Amino acid sequence: MSNSDFGLIGLAVMGQNLVLNVESRGFQVSVYNRTTSVTDEFVAAHPDKKLVGSKSLEEFVQSLASPRKVMIMVKAGGPVDAVIESLIPLLDKGDIIIDGGNSLYTDTERRDKWLGDLGFRFIGAGVSGGEEGARKGPAIMPGGPASTWDVMKPIFESIAAKVDGEPCVVHIGPGGAGHYVKMIHNGIEYGDMQLICEAYNIFKAAGFTSAELGTVFTDWNNGDLESYLIQITAEIFKQVDPETGGPLVEMILDTAGQKGTGKWTIMNAVENAVVISTINAAVEARILSSMKDKRVAASKELHGPKAEISADKAALVKKVHDALFASKIISYAQGLDLITAMSAEKGWNLDLSKIAAIWRGGCIIRARFLNDITDAYRAEPGLSNLMLAPFFKNLLNEFQQNWREVISMATLAGIPVPAFSASLGYYDSYRSAVLPANLLQAQRDFFGAHTYERTDKPRGEMFHTDWPEVIG
Ligand code: 6PG
Repeated sequence: MSNSDFGLIGLAVMGQNLVLNVESRGFQVSVYNRTTSVTDEFVAAHPDKKLVGSKSLEEFVQSLASPRKVMIMVKAGGPVDAVIESLIPLLDKGDIIIDGGNSLYTDTERRDKWLGDLGFRFIGAGVSGGEEGARKGPAIMPGGPASTWDVMKPIFESIAAKVDGEPCVVHIGPGGAGHYVKMIHNGIEYGDMQLICEAYNIFKAAGFTSAELGTVFTDWNNGDLESYLIQITAEIFKQVDPETGGPLVEMILDTAGQKGTGKWTIMNAVENAVVISTINAAVEARILSSMKDKRVAASKELHGPKAEISADKAALVKKVHDALFASKIISYAQGLDLITAMSAEKGWNLDLSKIAAIWRGGCIIRARFLNDITDAYRAEPGLSNLMLAPFFKNLLNEFQQNWREVISMATLAGIPVPAFSASLGYYDSYRSAVLPANLLQAQRDFFGAHTYERTDKPRGEMFHTDWPEVIG
């Protein structure tokens, strides 16, 4: 019977939870997984739900009402193409394929063209929120033709997280725009996580116990830093390791993994000549963390000060709060700046207030201050940089003394704070009317006759000096 409203291929945890979410909103859902026992077990585990399990892709496709809506939740890259290729002979023109994985946006653009040329409709949708978000309400970032979005809108809006009654999903833009924005979301996620880790490292050097840190982060989550990542960090500090009876976090090896979205963000930033130094620092911090053996060896050879901070604990909490918040503003300013640049480059016409608004709920970077970001872009859609919005300008001004002190304190104690420092470096560079690039231009002209502009002549007028010859 061809009557399912929605179909999903790929029953890993995210896929399963999305299916349960869609079904819970009153839709009948067909499911397919390459290993058919997974399908059987999943359907059998939910006997009271409107699920249709299929053993073959043919059967799966036949079970869907027209126009068919098929969501693919498989590993990004080759597996997505493989599933699409096997679907093509089975689908009819006008059917809709949705890729809900963390696909590279250029792959999405290629698939959009490929499927569009064949008469199918394609949506590349970033889905954020992890396993729990998929089940209870993720943030969804769909890209593709607006007319296809209109068909998918009722389902997507019903399954998405809600903030003040507004669903955390909006049509982002054409082609790969949805997956692009999800990639930047992940870059920002990397930045947020690293900044929190640096705060933790400073607190550790000041003698805070995990229990104390649990309290600090719980308090922060009740204030202006309220966010999912601060909330889960508070829970992490409270978690006891059943084997040792001590804090679990202290038993976890300090080598970070990554699947690639942060690296993609950096590569795109370089291509667009946009500075995202906080996100860069976060990706590089993960890379350095993964070189565990080299770090252990170097720790015996390369010396530094004792990693100890003596400070009044309550005062330090306030200072680190300010440093973290200020750095977080910079990180978002950079990520949003990159979206602005890419939107102009691709002619996507992205609406930053709408993007910030859907990030307020469901996704990993959801945070109270995304309300303020949304307001800033609503008030001034053409805002050139988030730092310049009155609300954030005032915060940066208020926080900067403590921000500087925390970085100085950490640096003097030899505690690495690459993302805090990169953020402050960006702030100080961005607000400098004069930078030392005059000397750099002189150097370029010296060795390569690259010419320079003068401070006392109109822009665009180029000069060259016959510099003295250097011997040796
Ligand atoms: C989300 C997450 C999700 C996933 C990341 C993790 O928004 O729900 O970003 O997509 O957890 O891919 O990325 P790393 O493995 O690179 O940390």
